[in-house]
Amino acid sequence: MLGVETSCDETSVAVVEDGAVVRSNIIASQADLHRKFGGVVPEVASRRHLEVINPVIQEALAEAGITFRDLHGVAVTYGPGLAGSLLVGLMAAKAVAFALDLPLIGVNHLEAHIYANFLVEPDLPFPLLCLVVSGGHTDLIHIPRLGDYHLLGRTRDDAAGEAFDKVARVLGMDYPGGPQVERLARDGDPEAVSFPRAYLEEDTYDFSFSGLKTAVINYLEKARWAGREVSSADVAAGFQQAVVDVLVDKVLAAARVYRPARILLAGGVAANRALARELKRRAAADGFGVTVPPPVYCTDNAAMVACAGYYRYLRGEFSPLTLNAAAGLGLGCS
Ligand code: KG4
Ligand code: ZN
Repeated sequence: MLGVETSCDETSVAVVEDGAVVRSNIIASQADLHRKFGGVVPEVASRRHLEVINPVIQEALAEAGITFRDLHGVAVTYGPGLAGSLLVGLMAAKAVAFALDLPLIGVNHLEAHIYANFLVEPDLPFPLLCLVVSGGHTDLIHIPRLGDYHLLGRTRDDAAGEAFDKVARVLGMDYPGGPQVERLARDGDPEAVSFPRAYLEEDTYDFSFSGLKTAVINYLEKARWAGREVSSADVAAGFQQAVVDVLVDKVLAAARVYRPARILLAGGVAANRALARELKRRAAADGFGVTVPPPVYCTDNAAMVACAGYYRYLRGEFSPLTLNAAAGLGLGCS
C-alpha cells in the first residue's frame, strides 16, 4: 500500500505492507520554510508540496525496493487540513491510482493518526479510547469496534499542540514549538509556577486551552513590567504540567465510564514524553493499559495513512477518482 500525506506542512509518502510492515516512510518537512513566519503559510505550503511530491514518491518506492507495479492500492489523506495542501497529495495519488488501475482509498487524517497505533500493534483489543492531540485537534474518541468512532469531547478553542506552539512563541522559540517546550520543561520545576487548569462543566469531556495560554502570556508580561527575572524552564514545565493534568484527568474520567480494553494516544502532542509517562502511570493505577506510537508515527507521516488505508482496502472501501479534498472533515459523531 502506498500512503500519501500532505495535509499540512509535511510531504510524506510511505510504502507499508499488510498495514504493519513499514518498508519506507519518507517525510519532507517544510518547518524551515515556515519558521520565519512563525507558523504554516498555506500558499507557501502547497507550492512546496507541489515541488517535492514526485521526488518523495520516487524516494519512497526506491527505499522500499519496489516499483509502481508492486503496489496494491493508494491511500491518501483527503481531510481535514489545508485545502491547497491536501489537493496536491490527492492529485498525485489519483494519478498513480488511475495510471496503474489501482484502488484509491481516501483516508481521514484523524483516523490515520489513530491508526499509527495499529502500525505498531495490529491486534489492539476493542473497545478503545483514543485521545488525538495534534496541532489542529484535541479529540477524545470512543471506538467500540474497528471503524466506528464516537466523539466524546473536543477542544472548544485552541488545540493542545496549538497551545504548545503559541507558548513556545512567547518564550522566544520558533515553530513548531512543542518539542522545544518539552525539552525546556525538562530543566524546569513544574510546581514553581502554577497555571490554571480548565475543566469546564463537570459532565463534559470537552477541553479548553486558550485561558492557559493567556495566563502564560500574562505571567510573562507582569514579570517583564516588574523587572522580575523569569525562569523560562519553570514556565515551560508549569505550562506542560497544566496541559498534561487536564488531558490525563479527562481521559481517565472517560475510561472509568467506557471501560476501554486499551487507551491510545495519537497526534503530534502524543510525542510528548511527559504526557505519555503520566497517562501510563495513572492509567495503570486504574487498571488500564496505554499504547503510544513511537514519536515518528505521532507527528504527521504517510505510514499511518497507508495503515488506515489498508484496513479500508480489506473491507473494499474504495474512493472514486472524483474524490475531493475536505478541509473541514470531522471524525465520528457525539
Ligand atoms: O499531528 P501533527 O504533526 O500535525 C497536525 O495534524 O496538527 O501535530 C503537530 C503538533 C504541533 O503543534 C507540535 O508543536 C506538536 O504537535 N508537538 C508536540 C511535540 N511534538 C510535536 N507538542 C508537545 N510535545 C512534543 N514533543
Ligand atoms: Zn496530524
